[in-house]
Amino acid sequence: GLPRKVRIHEVGARDGLQNEKATVPTETKAEFIHRLAAAGLTTIEATSFVHPKWVPQLADAEHLFPLVRELGAQGGTALPVLVPNERGLDRALDLGATRIAVFASATESFAKANLNRTVDEALAMFEPVVARAKAQDAHVRGYLSMCFGDPWEGPVPLPQVVRVCRALRDMGCDELSLGDTIGVATPGHVTALLTALNEENIPTPSLGVHFHDTYGQALSNTLAALQHGVTTVDASAGGLGGCPYAKSATGNLATEDLVWMLTGLGIDTGVDLGLLTATSVWMAGQLGRPSPSRTVRALSHK
Ligand code: HMG
Ligand code: MG
Repeated sequence: GLPRKVRIHEVGARDGLQNEKATVPTETKAEFIHRLAAAGLTTIEATSFVHPKWVPQLADAEHLFPLVRELGAQGGTALPVLVPNERGLDRALDLGATRIAVFASATESFAKANLNRTVDEALAMFEPVVARAKAQDAHVRGYLSMCFGDPWEGPVPLPQVVRVCRALRDMGCDELSLGDTIGVATPGHVTALLTALNEENIPTPSLGVHFHDTYGQALSNTLAALQHGVTTVDASAGGLGGCPYAKSATGNLATEDLVWMLTGLGIDTGVDLGLLTATSVWMAGQLGRPSPSRTVRALSHK
């Protein structure tokens, strides 16, 4: 069966914009996030408190977060932010963030490229971050990248993925997001990973899925995950996205494509597709190129 409701974890402002070559003005990012909230998205990843040299595009986090913070306080929009270490956590907590995400890797190559650490060194780096965040009642998401394939290492063995998931759970993460960072997964692989996690007593309701759409499989993969009981799906408005430290990563599953499918399945998302599409068309104008989302293109050429 399929769930009746799906929570969309919108990552366009973070995963999408972290990858842009042109500098997007802070005010434009703030307007983007406000428009996403107005379109009905209730979880909007706002930015990252990472090293500014590693991700220059999000170096304005201190300026941006205060411009959107009231969406959380008044409007009830969840505004998670990425933090890799205690320095990042301090920066986020100082600004009043109440939801954070750490981001681990299932492979050594990507841990090195993205975090300058081995897999286990990165987990050790996250441990005090999660503990301190939990002590302050913050909600903690644990991302796991390269759950299916890795650009340097090829296909990633399931036990390797399960081991790091378990470590993130044991550390105290409230929810995990299974990342197909380079978009190589196919539906059978998704089902196999979810089954392997269930066998390790990692329950499906605490799992989200994070598909990049490189090979056009993101929607099929999402449907497989929904059929397995997943109810949290990451997507980015207009299909923005990628990771600067993973060659061959393209945009995330487009939120519009996801909403189109879910609406057709009779699954409630609370998102106004017209408002969302208008937002992505506007953002594409700001970035100077059209959205790769098929749904955005179809609806905006009507
Ligand atoms: P490092 O070079 O090993 O840093 O980078 P360090 O710990 O050695 O510290 C060096 C200096 O950086 C120190 O300053 C720190 O204070 C400073 P110094 O004492 O030398 O003056 N520093 C910081 N400054 C500001 N904010 C911070 C911070 N941390 C250290 N948070 C580090 C290690 C983790 C910092 C670096 O590798 C990094 O920032 N990586 C982030 C990369 C990133 O953001 N990638 C994209 C997000 S992941 C993704 O997109 C995948 C996902 O979408 C899921 C999927 O698709 O799979 C989530
Ligand atoms: Mg990603």
